[in-house]
Amino acid sequence: MKVLHVVGARPNFMKVAPLYRALKQAGHEQHLLHTGQHYDRAMSTVFFDDLGLPEPDSHLGVGSGTHAEQTARVMLAFEPKLLEVAPDLLVVVGDVNSTVACSLVAAKCGVPIAHVEAGLRSGDWSMPEEINRVLTDRLSDLLFTHCADADDNLRGEGVPAERIHRVGNIMIDTLVENLERAKASPVLAEHGLHPRSYAVFTLHRPANVDTHETLAGILGAVCEAGKRAPVIFSCHPRTAERIRAADGLTQSLRDANVHMVPPLGYLDFLHLVAESRLVITDSGGLQEETTYLRIPCVTIRDNTERPVTITQGTNILAGTDPAGIRDALERSYGRDTKDTQIPELWDGKTAPRIVEVLERWRDRS
Ligand code: UD1
Ligand code: UDP
Repeated sequence: MKVLHVVGARPNFMKVAPLYRALKQAGHEQHLLHTGQHYDRAMSTVFFDDLGLPEPDSHLGVGSGTHAEQTARVMLAFEPKLLEVAPDLLVVVGDVNSTVACSLVAAKCGVPIAHVEAGLRSGDWSMPEEINRVLTDRLSDLLFTHCADADDNLRGEGVPAERIHRVGNIMIDTLVENLERAKASPVLAEHGLHPRSYAVFTLHRPANVDTHETLAGILGAVCEAGKRAPVIFSCHPRTAERIRAADGLTQSLRDANVHMVPPLGYLDFLHLVAESRLVITDSGGLQEETTYLRIPCVTIRDNTERPVTITQGTNILAGTDPAGIRDALERSYGRDTKDTQIPELWDGKTAPRIVEVLERWRDRS
């Protein structure tokens, strides 16, 4: 089987790495394509090094732009590459613009699509990722899901049951594989931190950072948390740009014990999170990683496409209003999460389960 994998943005690399390795072990031919949606070393190359991914076989170099510009540039550059590689299957992961752009091209070219992390729904159509998720799932032939909620969402939308395969959470494969290795990271010493005595903070959703008033309100609430313990703020480039452009925000963070650092590599970041007391975030993936690690997580959003991290895991939805965030932080600092659940099949063995399904699919007729 010849498989073409698409990666584009930071959360894609940790989802593709285990599947790439498992397919290689099973002797399949693979082509790794990077769209170039993310391009800074800290948002892209570092993950290839940390996760042992090979150099991409092709790179579309699309870069940043509006949604239409970015999606269209991926589609235009991807079509000839897809025809040249002529894979038996396209594998896409997650919900970024590169995911939907390549899926749309492949569907029109008649190339079967497998979507890893299918069936996630926030129900929030103002979120670009929700549009990407729904469209990608509609275009896909094989839908790999991470929990029962996702299966229900897909069935509810009329996806035939035989297309849905519950295989578990592929990001957790990467986490399990790297947790021990990550302990060698010097990141705590570099920032003068002690285990369980600091919080980790990330923020990058357009709805949270693109409007000054919302961003300033959220940062104000997080600054209050700095009074209890240092906060390490791994700052996404979208957010860094907005903070730099706003008068006084950088200084108020510094004064409040909130330490802005550039995005970290996977191993450094995993170690930082695994040893933290609390994570404050609007990231999708981090809601899952904290659930696996049993670290309390405060999510600065009104909804989540990953409700299992709340019903079984360590996640609390804080909303985006400063008072709600302060309240959720207060509840989470002392929260005992050692008895929270890890969802079924989040066990580090999702990639081999996907390979099994793919081989059955290949041999179907
Ligand atoms: C994208 C995804 C989002 C995902 C996030 C992960 C979409 C619609 N959004 O959001 O789902 O959670 O990635 O991090 O696909 N930039 C740089 N360097 C980079 C990349 C981006 O400076 O390497 C800056 C640029 O100013 C760019 C902005 O960040 O305009 C936003 O990048 P973009 O890829 O459009 O969206 P993200 O906010 O990163
Ligand atoms: N991550 C990382 N370094 C950082 C911040 C995040 O390696 O400085 C990892 C995080 O552990 C998770 C993934 O990036 O594996 C999540 O990506 P992101 O939050 O950018 O996207 P989302 O999951 O929200 O789509």
